[in-house]
Amino acid sequence: MTAFTPVLPERTAGYLRAGLHQVKGWLNVSTAVYLSGVEAAQRGAGVSGDVAEIGIHHGKSFLCLALDLPADQRAVAIDVFDDQTANLDQSGRGDRDIFEQNLATYGAGDNVDIVQSSSLDLEQAGFVAAGRRFRIFSIDGGHTDQITVNDLRIAERTVVDHGLVVLDDVLNRHWLGVITGLFSYLGDGGSLVPAVLVPNKLILATSADQAKHCRAMFAEQFPDGLEKADVPLAGHQIDVYGDRPWLVRGEDGRSEPVTGHELMATITAARLGELEQQLRSARAELDTTRRQLDATRQQLRTAAQPLYRRAARRLPWLVRPVRPVLRRVRAVVRRPR
Ligand SMILES: C[S@@+](CC[C@H](N)C(=O)[O-])C[C@H]1O[C@@H](n2cnc3c(N)ncnc32)[C@H](O)[C@@H]1O
Repeated sequence: MTAFTPVLPERTAGYLRAGLHQVKGWLNVSTAVYLSGVEAAQRGAGVSGDVAEIGIHHGKSFLCLALDLPADQRAVAIDVFDDQTANLDQSGRGDRDIFEQNLATYGAGDNVDIVQSSSLDLEQAGFVAAGRRFRIFSIDGGHTDQITVNDLRIAERTVVDHGLVVLDDVLNRHWLGVITGLFSYLGDGGSLVPAVLVPNKLILATSADQAKHCRAMFAEQFPDGLEKADVPLAGHQIDVYGDRPWLVRGEDGRSEPVTGHELMATITAARLGELEQQLRSARAELDTTRRQLDATRQQLRTAAQPLYRRAARRLPWLVRPVRPVLRRVRAVVRRPR
């Protein structure tokens, strides 16, 4: 089923349609749509605050949050970049030069602040106390449980009331530190509330009320994406949104596939046609084999009857003990398909 995004600002729509597949990184295509759509919807609703991401690599997901921002809002990119010794679990590898090139290519830049630091050092460096407040805080840096707890706490303390926190790789079986960290954080009284799961990322709100608000916003913005509502998670109810072949609606009135999904849709259609053809041939072959089997059964019955009668007449002592067996054989031969 084709799915339509909400109407997205020009640069954001352009990035999804033509840029996403050019930027290296780890981001599900539908999740790029959800991030961009949430950023635009939040902005449209007048939520003020900056946006931030810990864990940039080349900026693939950061660009979903940082394009078309109003002049009074900033996008903050936090990564260890050149200091890869601080990348404790080797999750990705931030490259500041490539990131800055991508910012320029896709039209972000003027309102981007780059913070080269491990997220473990942010608090000490005064990041939290500085009073900077965010409406979206994306966490995709180190994936150990300790770093996940640290990053969730920083997000909790810097996000505005209507803000959202996005936690990456929450169900990635190769990075189980993230889910371990999430449960530690929630178990230790963390105040963020899980609201929506999109492919590979969990979105948390600042309170139970805000989680409801977030779920309602998703239902309004992405009605085609909902897979399952009211899924229990750690004492909360969340809605689960899935992967779709999205058509990106832009302010220019056009609806065009998000990069990657165009290819997926084509491959899927071609493969589907191929499979349908194979299914038709297999069915025809099965019909022929069934008809041959019916004919063979009939021939067997015809051939066996005189033989059996003759044997019964001439050698009754021989036939009597095998009669039950013959009855069974006949029953099998006559059994309808
Ligand atoms: C999985 S990648 C991020 C992927 C990126 N969000 C994308 O859209 O492709 C993880 C990034 O986090 C950075 N990183 C690892 N540990 C970190 C830490 N403790 N603090 C800040 N950044 C970290 C790495 O340098 C890498 O660029």
